[in-house]
Amino acid sequence: MSKDIITVTSPLLPNLEDFNDLLKQIWDSKWITNNGSFHKQLEAALAEYLKVPYVSLFTNGTLPLITALQALRITGEVITTPYSFVATTHALWWNGIKPVFVDIDWNTGCMDPNKIEAAITPKTTAIMPVHVYGKPCDTKAIQDIADKYGLKVIYDAAHAFGVEVDGESVLNAGDMSTLSFHATKVYNTIEGGAMIMHDAKTKQRIDYLKNFGFAGETEVVAPGINSKMDEMRSAYGLLNLKQVDAAIEARHQVAIMYRKALRNVEGIEFWDDMPGVKHNYSYFPIFVDAEKYGMTRDELYFKMKQQGVLGRRYFYPLISNFSTYRGLPSATKENLPIATKMSEEVICLPMYHTLSNEDIVKILEQIVK
Ligand SMILES: Cc1ncc(COP(=O)(O)O)c(C=O)c1O
Repeated sequence: MSKDIITVTSPLLPNLEDFNDLLKQIWDSKWITNNGSFHKQLEAALAEYLKVPYVSLFTNGTLPLITALQALRITGEVITTPYSFVATTHALWWNGIKPVFVDIDWNTGCMDPNKIEAAITPKTTAIMPVHVYGKPCDTKAIQDIADKYGLKVIYDAAHAFGVEVDGESVLNAGDMSTLSFHATKVYNTIEGGAMIMHDAKTKQRIDYLKNFGFAGETEVVAPGINSKMDEMRSAYGLLNLKQVDAAIEARHQVAIMYRKALRNVEGIEFWDDMPGVKHNYSYFPIFVDAEKYGMTRDELYFKMKQQGVLGRRYFYPLISNFSTYRGLPSATKENLPIATKMSEEVICLPMYHTLSNEDIVKILEQIVK
């Protein structure tokens, strides 16, 4: 039987008995946080799974962004995208940095590298792109520009867990990448996140910064923050790592069904897999062309909702339209035509590993006329 309401997401949960076994170990050890055994195990297991040299675990996906900017001493202006979750830009604001928005590429939703150079000023110190929906940015083009102008690159890779291009993790691009392990993500630790870096020295510095700046019992080397992942979430994360491949494959099958049914629906656009890319199927955005489809995005979104099918207008509104940012010179609609169009046309369809065929049929009935 289909549920009455089809939610847009549903978390990947470890087997409760397995989790209880690990909780028992934690209770027995009485070591519940501060770089405990499960924390260390999860960092090592993630580095191996993600094919990256170093991982530092965090309590969520926002604090590694804020910390990366601190660690690299980024100041002045940073070039970023308005088509993301608001945490991307908030991380800049919390560091007293001015966000400079550039437009996105319609084919990926990611920052358009062709728009970056025109936005660079003497105050620009870094670029902060987002692998939106887990679709990889054009990391080569972005790095070429960064190298030419001497800029740092920090990727908000909150959506890009496990994504690879030609067999290489996208998380290895740029100076640092950050991940979110929030409950809604492909891989979750309830709340959680991580930073990916290239060398042991940077990992050491980040580990200091996420622990108040402590470099030893009595030494504080920087004004750090507290963002250490505790033992319960680390243990939960170890269990979820064992089942994440199966969850991604189940999502892949959902994407195949969606694409098959929506391929010839006039006015509905979606993305196919990119050549050479290992996707994680974290989201399934569709784009509604009101004129061709005969209904606006919002009309479709609310019709679906009324029928118990919850989509998400993700990302709407654009970050550049929120009160904190809309006064910025780069926040205008004229500067961001593609991002504006995408945010006005997008609906992310329900996407998770336990979505039943029956539910998928019910969702598609709302869209395919
Ligand atoms: C693109 C992006 N960046 C950052 C974050 C923040 O992650 P968290 O919710 O784990 O703090 C999210 C979370 O939804 C996100 O989607």
